[in-house]
Amino acid sequence: VSHQTYRRDAFTVLTDPALLDIDLVHDLSRETYWAAGIPRATLVRAVAGSLCFGIYEGQKQVGFARVVTDRATFAYLCDVFVLPTHRARGLSKWLMECVVAHPDLQGLRRFVLVTKDAHGLYARFGFETPADPAAYMHIHRPDVYRSQPDAGDEPTGR
Ligand SMILES: CC(C)(COP(=O)(O)OP(=O)(O)OC[C@H]1O[C@@H](n2cnc3c(N)ncnc32)[C@H](O)[C@@H]1OP(=O)(O)O)[C@@H](O)C(=O)NCCC(=O)NCCS
Repeated sequence: VSHQTYRRDAFTVLTDPALLDIDLVHDLSRETYWAAGIPRATLVRAVAGSLCFGIYEGQKQVGFARVVTDRATFAYLCDVFVLPTHRARGLSKWLMECVVAHPDLQGLRRFVLVTKDAHGLYARFGFETPADPAAYMHIHRPDVYRSQPDAGDEPTGR
């Protein structure tokens, strides 16, 4: 697997998973509405099975996006975030540009995501509400992390 590098001003977007700051991604994940309480081991497994994008300012990671994909027909975008100190500077829009330009994410038949309130961000990259939402089925267990091994691992409030 070849890793991609994208550059803009002082920032880089890199897809080499070895460079990711897992502790930072874990801290940020736990503050989200969708991954609060995710055990670190679960996150590590998720990252290992995904195509991950880190945004870096120098060596420091300031953003993240994860794509679960077969790199041929289908992809699911999740875990998109930018450090609070670095928001409202266009970084997530650039991150999305990098995601949709990635060579392994071309020619997919379906590229999906779920969002509570960021439709406007994704709409500019072609994502739209399905014409027939009734065609979608899922198993959704929002509290699943509570039953996983290091479930005592609650958000710290930092
Ligand atoms: C959402 C998030 C990634 C945006 O990152 P950012 O780097 O501050 O965003 P950008 O500066 O690139 O701008 C995002 C654009 O999408 C728009 N947008 C739409 N919905 C948005 C939302 N829920 N939050 C932030 N921006 C949103 C913004 O208005 C902006 O458009 P504009 O430039 O025309 O005003 C960031 O606020 C974040 O990490 N939030 C917490 C985690 C989260 O909610 N992630 C998305 C889950 S689907």
